[in-house]
Amino acid sequence: MRIDILTIFPDMFRGPFDESIVKRAVDGGLVSIHLHDIRQWAKDRHKTVDDYPFGGGPGMVMKPDVVFAATESVLDLAPQREPVILLTPAGRRLAHDTVVDLARNERLVLLCGHYEGFDARVHEHLATDEISIGDYVLSGGELAAMVLVDAVVRHIPGALGSPQSAAEESFAGGLLEAPHYTRPPEFRDWSVPEALVSGNHQEVAKWRRRQNLLLTARRRPDLLASLEVTAEEREWLALQMGEQ
Ligand code: ADE
Repeated sequence: MRIDILTIFPDMFRGPFDESIVKRAVDGGLVSIHLHDIRQWAKDRHKTVDDYPFGGGPGMVMKPDVVFAATESVLDLAPQREPVILLTPAGRRLAHDTVVDLARNERLVLLCGHYEGFDARVHEHLATDEISIGDYVLSGGELAAMVLVDAVVRHIPGALGSPQSAAEESFAGGLLEAPHYTRPPEFRDWSVPEALVSGNHQEVAKWRRRQNLLLTARRRPDLLASLEVTAEEREWLALQMGEQ
């Protein structure tokens, strides 16, 4: 996969992309990440990328001529020209299914906005998708782009140590993920649940499934609504929830 990121702060990306799974995926040739400074396409001496909003009001707006010029030259660098994703709090909210869909692309082009955002013509005639990472406003699209890239890269085959990991993580089965334990089995007064040290794979699987259900019921009941749960599981869950 090739990821092109257009931003006025390319240096912001250096830390997060130089560590961990994203770095390993880049080093392993699974993904290439190209940062482009939008200012390079500014037309004046001062490298202006923003201007006052028509009609007045606070803040500045990123200029369409500069953003179109930048994006169009970046698009020419590789054959696939979509999706062009604009990161904005007004976009559709990023969730697991979208991440999995995005990971199937050969290429992603990400546009990070600043100030009051982009001129509306960028939204209408340049972006093919608009994504938000949550219902809060960040100072710019850069942090949102980092979140998106990290989440997407995990789903590129080979990016994680074990192919099971992405399939088993929270949200993959529509549930939150069961707690994990490691050695020592006894730590202070807290011991590892018996099922996990039983050596019985079936018992481990049953324990995990039930813990997934319980955690989801407690923290994200909205996720449970659209899920298939057996009568036995439902009964067990009702019992646990009654005992809270
Ligand atoms: N830019 C500013 N806030 C954002 C958000 N919540 N998601 C994506 N891009 C943003």
